[in-house]
Amino acid sequence: MNITIVNFKGGVGKSMIAHQLISGYGFNGYEIDPYGSLSDRLPESVLRVDIQEKKIEEPKKETIFDFGGFDDVKLDQAISYSDLIVIPFIPTLETIQGTVDTLVRVASANKPILMVPNMSQKENDINDAKFVFEETLGFEIEMFPIPMSVALQTAINENCAVGDLSKQGGIKAYAYKKSSKIIDDLHAKIREYENL
Ligand SMILES: Nc1ncnc2c1ncn2[C@@H]1O[C@H](COP(=O)(O)OP(=O)(O)OP(=O)(O)O)[C@@H](O)[C@H]1O
Ligand SMILES: [Mg+2]
Repeated sequence: MNITIVNFKGGVGKSMIAHQLISGYGFNGYEIDPYGSLSDRLPESVLRVDIQEKKIEEPKKETIFDFGGFDDVKLDQAISYSDLIVIPFIPTLETIQGTVDTLVRVASANKPILMVPNMSQKENDINDAKFVFEETLGFEIEMFPIPMSVALQTAINENCAVGDLSKQGGIKAYAYKKSSKIIDDLHAKIREYENL
């Protein structure tokens, strides 16, 4: 399956999720972000797509499209190749509007959408965001929350899957295991949309 990860808002966790799915579950990646570092971190599995390109070729292996925090002409094409659109966002009032814009922009493609409230502090903020999204779209939308986690940031810094950290044991093993399970569950959730 192919997955488009998008939000016109920056810093919401798009590349973190892409990185963890690629390093942990054998996906390839297309990095459609001139400011991104995913293709530098995982050069074997991530292709950098030039910002000048008007088109992207249909991937031959399971691929994650990691977009930067802006609209791009290649977004519709990536979505057409994708089984699922993942929209990470930070559920605070100030940042919801950018996410609504993204949601409205991609909803017309009629592909399944999974919203990922990331680094949320309060359960209530997630519910408020869900309400706004569903009011805007007129249909229900699935949410998969990811908490703020030092283990995830460590996995990014060490350029590995959080699942690999959790196998190392030691004093931090518990924190790693918790985050590893969340990413495992996210992957399982994503797989529910395969061949839908
Ligand atoms: N759940 C989390 N816990 C801890 N750190 C996180 C989490 N999610 C993301 N981060 C960190 O937050 C920062 C921003 O995330 P990331 O780069 O993935 O955002 P992005 O949406 O790809 O941004 P951009 O639009 O600039 O491409 C990164 O340092 C990332 O490692
Ligand atoms: Mg990014």
